[in-house]
Amino acid sequence: MDATIDKIYAEALAELAAAPDAAAVQDLAVRYLGRKGKVTGFLRGIAQLPSTERAQAGKRANEIKRALEAEVEAAQQRLSRDRETVAALDVTLPGRRIHPGVLHPLTQVTGAVCDIFARMGFSVAEGPEVETDYYNFEALNVPKYHPARDMQDTFYVSDNIVLRTQTSPMQIRVMEKQAPPVAVVAPGKVYRCDSDLTHTPMFHQVEGLLVDRDVSFADLKGTLTAFVHEMFDPQTALRFRPSFFPFTEPSAEVDIVCVMCRGAGCRVCGRSGWLEILGAGMVHPNVFRSVGYDSPQVSGFAFGMGVERIAMLKYGIDDIRKFYNNDLRFLGQF
Ligand code: PHE
Repeated sequence: MDATIDKIYAEALAELAAAPDAAAVQDLAVRYLGRKGKVTGFLRGIAQLPSTERAQAGKRANEIKRALEAEVEAAQQRLSRDRETVAALDVTLPGRRIHPGVLHPLTQVTGAVCDIFARMGFSVAEGPEVETDYYNFEALNVPKYHPARDMQDTFYVSDNIVLRTQTSPMQIRVMEKQAPPVAVVAPGKVYRCDSDLTHTPMFHQVEGLLVDRDVSFADLKGTLTAFVHEMFDPQTALRFRPSFFPFTEPSAEVDIVCVMCRGAGCRVCGRSGWLEILGAGMVHPNVFRSVGYDSPQVSGFAFGMGVERIAMLKYGIDDIRKFYNNDLRFLGQF
């Protein structure tokens, strides 16, 4: 007799599990637990059982009745909770705006600079930001007494280890590994102990190096002119001013006509009409010597530019710190 009530229970549970909605559960409750339901019917039939079986069957049937009532109750609760969840998904609400990320303006400008040189046949190399004194200074013909070594400018990690103050050590690293011809640009972070409206202790440079037979200053001028015309606009005038770097001879600083006043003279260019954008020159023989390029036919040029400076001029940004404040109103414009 127990078997009968257990079978009814198993059937009820299977139906309950398959019930798609609250109405189906309600219907099931009536068919099993209602006045004419199967469980109720079984309980009523117990009186007819032999007296030896009655107690046992009654106990089991009542257990199952309570268990099934609890299952039905739980199913009803679960289904009504699901209905509330559906109600909370109001499909008529306006959509939430997704803000896609963009590359940081300095990453974009670094990429644009490298792209322009890549189209001219330069490859791209990267190197360490923590550099030895040898690569950052010594091999670049920076003598021990040179002011660039002053503790004011250089972050020293230890006596012989520095945070690179320029990307120029990449000139040495590339030439040590590769025989001429060499045409490479090297973007990356550099560090100087300096901080104001136009200087941050960490900033970005792109170094350039071209070494081959018979490279002349005219090649340097032509290459940088092509770069400026691509980066800014094809009308942008530029000039080469004599300058000094220990690792180039002759050396020059390159100015472009002021992007704000077009040369008339304004506050941005200090009334001169010109803005400095990079340092450059013909590779110094001592630099070639330190990498073992000693053939007299080998010559080359190098240049180094500040990415922040290029970006500020390109976009008319007046404060370098804006690149580092992580203000989305600023960053979102690029
Ligand atoms: N390294 C120089 C600087 O940081 C720039 C430079 C690079 C000049 C290569 C000449 C040649 O100021």
